Amino acid sequence: MPNVVVIGAQWGDEGKGRIVDLISEKVDIIVRYQGGNNAGHTIVIGDEKVVLHHLPSGILREDKLSVIGNGVVVDPKVLLQEIRELESAGYSANENNLKISDRAHVIMPYHREIDMARESMNGKGKIGTTGRGIGPVYEDKAARRGIKFADLIDPDSLSARLKDVLEERNSYLTKVLGGNPLNFEEIFQEYVQYGRELKGFSCDVSTLLNKSISNGQNILFEGAQGALLDIDFGTYPYVTSSSSGSGGASIGTGVSPTKIDTVLGISKAYTTRVGEGPFPTEISGELGEELRQAGGEFGATTGRPRRCGWFDAFALKYAAQINGISWLAVTKLDVLSGFEKINVCIGYLYKGQQLTSFPSNNQVLKDIEPIYLEMEGWKEDISEAKELSELPIQARKYLEKLEETTGVPIYTVSLGPSREKIIFLNEIFS
Ligand code: IMP
Repeated sequence: MPNVVVIGAQWGDEGKGRIVDLISEKVDIIVRYQGGNNAGHTIVIGDEKVVLHHLPSGILREDKLSVIGNGVVVDPKVLLQEIRELESAGYSANENNLKISDRAHVIMPYHREIDMARESMNGKGKIGTTGRGIGPVYEDKAARRGIKFADLIDPDSLSARLKDVLEERNSYLTKVLGGNPLNFEEIFQEYVQYGRELKGFSCDVSTLLNKSISNGQNILFEGAQGALLDIDFGTYPYVTSSSSGSGGASIGTGVSPTKIDTVLGISKAYTTRVGEGPFPTEISGELGEELRQAGGEFGATTGRPRRCGWFDAFALKYAAQINGISWLAVTKLDVLSGFEKINVCIGYLYKGQQLTSFPSNNQVLKDIEPIYLEMEGWKEDISEAKELSELPIQARKYLEKLEETTGVPIYTVSLGPSREKIIFLNEIFS
């Protein structure tokens, strides 16, 4: 059984949680390596729907170990609430099945304040963030004024670190953003309590994971967001502030790339994006709305309507190259039932020239013209199909075209939100 990284191959919301939940059955440990509670992974089990923000999707399988790596940013207040909600849904996150890296950075109240104040100030130039303080916490990490989980659980360190950084952050909040200053004592009292409640989860994650690998255990590295939201390779500046690609798995856990065997990319059978930024295959008007309604495309974290578009094989090929995606899991194929014609974008035209690589310049990306391959749609409801041969010929041709145009073989196709609505085309975990 390989150590596998699972990433979103588009702009996030591809259905990673659902796929990780399924394949987590086959691994021993599931680890989140980047992002924070900007993520929202929805998993449907029977009639029940569980939305996870920090916790790895493996937490729904009690015999598995779930880990939050050092690359993740943790909002302790939200995490504690998530743990309580999980418990009331009949699951458990306890000190035996959940470990949190003592090196993970902590989202503090001023991070959220700064995120929201900037977004409302920026007006037209805003990023469309989730407002969870993600950019500011990663900024503080790089600026060496962050507070780590190891500080949160130690009152003396928390006090010293908070004193060091709060004055400067308050000055930025008030003088630059026109906000109100935050009070040291209030934050300290609140956060020291969170630290007490979470202390038992603290762990040297790199040592734990490396030892587990040496003992023959397998790891699933769970990415959040998607390849095109990666801080380096995404559509910057309309990206998140971490390495959401497969490379982030090493940085965010302390497990070296030599120990990772394969990368599974998740993509919808079409494309969606939340927030601002270029989206070459976006469908406007009634057709876009039809796709949004058919796919229930509203954000799991913020409830925002997602922008919808055709499958972009050119962008996916780029994501595959950067991240070494060796297999693709295609989700929500059933949503395309009833569309008379379905487009697949196979290239970009810019000023009449066909581009040979994915542009790094957003101005170019905004002005490109997608080159589409028009395919016949199908009318049948395919959500009950159990095998590839039960799909209409047009749906099978569509999948073949996705493989051909992205250059990545398909591992699995999902046809609905519940665990059993899935067809496996290949076996990669033998
Ligand atoms: P941030 O991560 O909250 O700073 O938001 C930056 C960009 O990433 C925005 O366009 C968000 O909509 C997008 N984003 C962040 N997390 C997710 C996610 O889990 N799914 C999809 N988009 C996301």
